[in-house]
Amino acid sequence: MMAETTARPVRAQGGEPVLQCRDLNVHFQTGEGRISAVNGVSFDLHRGQCLGIVGESGSGKSQTFLAILGLLASNGHATGSVVLNGEEILNTSRRKLNAIRGEKMAIVFQDSITGLTPHKRIGEQLCEVLTQHRGMSRSEARSRALEMLELVRIPEPARRFRMYPHEFSGGMRQRVMIAQALLCQPDVLIADEPTTALDVTVQAQILKLFKGLADHTDTALVMITHDLGVVAGLCDEVMVMYAGRAIEQASVDSLFYDPRHPYTRGLLACMPRADRDSESLTAIPGQPPDLSELPPGCAYAPRCPQAFDRCLTERPSLDLAVEGHLKACHLENAP
Ligand SMILES: Nc1ncnc2c1ncn2[C@@H]1O[C@H](COP(=O)(O)OP(=O)(O)OP(=O)(O)O)[C@@H](O)[C@H]1O
Ligand SMILES: [Mg+2]
Repeated sequence: MMAETTARPVRAQGGEPVLQCRDLNVHFQTGEGRISAVNGVSFDLHRGQCLGIVGESGSGKSQTFLAILGLLASNGHATGSVVLNGEEILNTSRRKLNAIRGEKMAIVFQDSITGLTPHKRIGEQLCEVLTQHRGMSRSEARSRALEMLELVRIPEPARRFRMYPHEFSGGMRQRVMIAQALLCQPDVLIADEPTTALDVTVQAQILKLFKGLADHTDTALVMITHDLGVVAGLCDEVMVMYAGRAIEQASVDSLFYDPRHPYTRGLLACMPRADRDSESLTAIPGQPPDLSELPPGCAYAPRCPQAFDRCLTERPSLDLAVEGHLKACHLENAP
């Protein structure tokens, strides 16, 4: 007998979650119809926790967190509930969201250049955050900003303070973005594919930096990535998304050693591994469904090698498979 647990946290931890998301839905109105980009996503995030979000391109990873931050495009609309430190923040006023984004939640994107103002010196940009959001004096702001640049391992921070964004390499710019995101010591740091644009060596350095932050600060980290290797190295919990839905949620160990959803198994089979040559690497055959016409059953059924009749007609809910491990799949009840 499986318990209905759609609104359950992934793992019960002590204390209130810093961020609690319940039944989040995101729709976009377009000329071609209504796109259901995020469909009933729920999770809890605790202090010091690192939550990985994985799934193919278009599965709703970014829109989930853009909705939480109040940053959806103007044709988008979010419903559900997002509680930050006990306070409902979904669709709250612009003023409140601005304050939240400066102080309580920060996001780092893949493309660091768009997050920085090109004609302003790095130091000026960092200090502004502190003088505006924290009311610090210029000299206080300067010493805190320098401290942050040191924390993200930028060599010679005092000299770099006077430089412009284009004078930095991609990896260094990404470090500046992370420093900027951390300036106000946010409760939640969201990293959306933060290393995708960087070469492999720099990627490893930046991921090490995140690992250090996750281990040594109270900030809860959300790591959005295509790369299950990143999740394995960094995260405690993971949510796998498909067609805007969470289809599996578990601790990283449980997900890697005991995956319950055929889609997750497919993703794991596509992971590069030292003991496999790269030629045996395959993508999961087929395409995700059209988000303006989601099928009535499981959205993965048309691609699933184990699908049976019920999968095409009835959408599986996210249920408890084993303690702390949720999956949305009918398979255990297959005929
Ligand atoms: N303004 C918009 N209007 C219509 N559809 C949109 C809009 N913004 C996003 N979408 C759609 O929402 C869906 C989810 O997008 P999202 O950006 O969350 O994907 P993702 O999982 O982050 O993918 P990726 O890994 O490529 O970043 C996509 O199909 C996307 O095309
Ligand atoms: Mg994205």
